[in-house]
Amino acid sequence: IRRVRTHHLRELKQRGERFSMLTSYDQLTAQVFDEAGVEVLLVGDSASNNVLGNSTSIPVTVDELLPLTRAVSRSVSRALVVGDLPFGSYQASPEQGYLTAVRFMKEGGAHCVKLEGGVEMAPQIEKMTRGGIPVMAHIGFTPQSEHALGGYRVQGRGDAAERILRDALAVQDAGAFSVVMEMVPGDVAAEVTAKLEIPTIGIGAGNQCDGQVLVWQDAFGLRTGKLPRFVKQYADLRSVLLDAARAYDSEVKSGAFPAPEHTF
Ligand code: KIV
Ligand code: NA
Repeated sequence: IRRVRTHHLRELKQRGERFSMLTSYDQLTAQVFDEAGVEVLLVGDSASNNVLGNSTSIPVTVDELLPLTRAVSRSVSRALVVGDLPFGSYQASPEQGYLTAVRFMKEGGAHCVKLEGGVEMAPQIEKMTRGGIPVMAHIGFTPQSEHALGGYRVQGRGDAAERILRDALAVQDAGAFSVVMEMVPGDVAAEVTAKLEIPTIGIGAGNQCDGQVLVWQDAFGLRTGKLPRFVKQYADLRSVLLDAARAYDSEVKSGAFPAPEHTF
């Protein structure tokens, strides 16, 4: 695949091949993750609490996310770039959602958009897909609804599994090209994945999904402290940066930097 398109993800699913997705919010990480072969880069509303200093995704605005989306879409040569619609920018009506999605495509250069919700977002998904905008849905635990859902908790346990399946089928029927499932029991996510034609992307949803996604600062250890159980830490970037910053600081203070070779 020279340039990842939405249909490629479906073809990978049909062939039983998995794909990967990471968040990215800037030029240099987009270039690195693209070079690594990650198929999908999500300019998540998680920029709110990973880039912009907020503690949740709720406050971030369209105007804040668009420049980050543009930075990523300009920087990839292969990956599919997903613009994440923030809280309040699409829930009011299909028309509101469509107009917001258009901004992510035109101003952000996104290749598609993501929104949170299942059955209740079907009209929005239909409007966008009919209007030429591919949509990735996001069901299970949906962070923008944290306060309605009563905090960070696994969705779809026991009888609630039926709800996850209904949401998944509803977004597929509405035209979504893929669906993220967050914090859903592995067996439920496996069943949904088997029943859907469109690819599923898990985050805290076991290893039977067609793809996986993580927030890069979590996965590569820039953020430390208490991380959700579904995060695996592939690197310890915080330590690397902390050591480098301390070395720089002490060499500046001692006068060791800049040395003659750094001086004109
Ligand atoms: O904003 C985000 O990072 C996300 C992923 C975790 C799916 O929505
Ligand atoms: Na998000």
